[in-house]
Amino acid sequence: GDNLMMLAQLHDVDIEGACEASLACCTCHVYVEEPYFERLDEPDVKEEDLLDMAPFLAENSRLGCQIL
Ligand code: FES
Repeated sequence: GDNLMMLAQLHDVDIEGACEASLACCTCHVYVEEPYFERLDEPDVKEEDLLDMAPFLAENSRLGCQIL
């Protein structure tokens, strides 16, 4: 299926997805602006753990491949 990371890549956005959406990296880290951020489902525990390792973590950080 599609996710934000794959969509971005299709549109030539310079985003990595080293683990190809298998929740094993944080190279698909993105910042999601309001009002979209609060509309997303809560990240699951695995995503939270990976986000904790992401450089420049922010309040509105998410993993792009987990945004459907
Ligand atoms: Fe690896 Fe998103 S591409 S967690």
